[in-house]
Amino acid sequence: MALPLPDELLKLPHKRDVSFARLTTLGIGGLCRWLFEPTTEAEAQAFVRACHREGLAFRVLGGGSNLVVLGDVEVPVLRLRLPAIAERHGAEIAAPASHGHIALAEAATREGLSGLEWASGIPGSLGGAIRMNAGAYGHEWVQVLARYRFLTPEGELIEKAPESGEFQYRTSWFSGRHVVLWAEARLVAGDSARIQAQVAEYRGRRGGSQPLSRRNAGCIFKNPPGQNAGRLIDEAGLKGLRIGDAEVSPEHGNFLVNHGHARVEDFAELMARVQARVREIHGVELEPEVEIWR
Ligand code: FAD
Ligand code: EPU
Repeated sequence: MALPLPDELLKLPHKRDVSFARLTTLGIGGLCRWLFEPTTEAEAQAFVRACHREGLAFRVLGGGSNLVVLGDVEVPVLRLRLPAIAERHGAEIAAPASHGHIALAEAATREGLSGLEWASGIPGSLGGAIRMNAGAYGHEWVQVLARYRFLTPEGELIEKAPESGEFQYRTSWFSGRHVVLWAEARLVAGDSARIQAQVAEYRGRRGGSQPLSRRNAGCIFKNPPGQNAGRLIDEAGLKGLRIGDAEVSPEHGNFLVNHGHARVEDFAELMARVQARVREIHGVELEPEVEIWR
């Protein structure tokens, strides 16, 4: 049974009972009972304010590329649908949080702006990338982030420059009820051909090591300090371990893939077995890098 919601929320654009299999790259999960899709910042603010006033918990969804959903989600879920327009001002490029992350990196490349080449293979939305401080090949968002705008859990709109300590390895200071609305990257004017060559090099490396033809949520576990989760899983002999349609990728140990019809139980069991075996063999506790929604 879905939670009843107040009229002021129901006035906002929303859908009912959408499968998380369609909302996430991994393609598993139960139903999203209430999916709110504001098309303006004002609507997003009205949503957060109404939830705050009613004492209602909610969740924020981006491109669903770092999410493992293990059941139905009864609380309202906010997925921004702001106009997908990136703007360039000098060496800065800015976009609404729902802008595609790869599309933003591609826009920077087209503009001859260097600094987001590493981002060209990371799916999802710009907002999700800021929230996760996404990164690759020694780079991460905090290194280029100039300003960002967000809603507090009370619905207050704030725009600011990042401050020291707000963003760390695959995490940030936001709670699950802050909503990133917009962000601006400070890049440098570069040579288009060199930028394109760097993008191609990163994409080649990624294609050579990650199972991009299967549904997945990126790396499942964080790299423990000074170690590599993929290698630990590999050395524990876990590649190819399969439960139903959920499998430890034979290509990269830290990717668990869905062959099509993986059930949430299979996926949860596979994650737990990987953690238990790595603990047993290496004495290391693997911590999820993905967000888990139950
Ligand atoms: P979601 O998965 O939708 O959400 C992730 C978290 O962000 C959740 O907590 C959600 O509540 C929050 N969130 C989403 N949008 C907002 C918002 N607007 N405001 C506030 N919070 C928000 N990640 C890397 O860092 N490096 C990689 O190299 C990388 N490679 C990947 C490769 C593949 C093939 C895949 C599938 C994933 C990869 N990822 C990688 C993981 C993922 O793409 C990133 O974490 C991405 O930035 C998540 O963005 P998203 O919009 O999909 O977020
Ligand atoms: N390795 C193995 N076996 C494996 C996988 C990896 O031995 O099964 C070894 C590789 O041979 C290599 C080392 O581990 O020597 C590192 O592997 P890789 O270059 O694939 O990088 P990673 O540390 O596994 C991290 C990020 C990725 C990001 C890449 C590239 C984390 C958890 N993962 O992976 O990010 O794309 O570097 O920068 O930090 C993500 O966050 O979702 C993600 C995919």
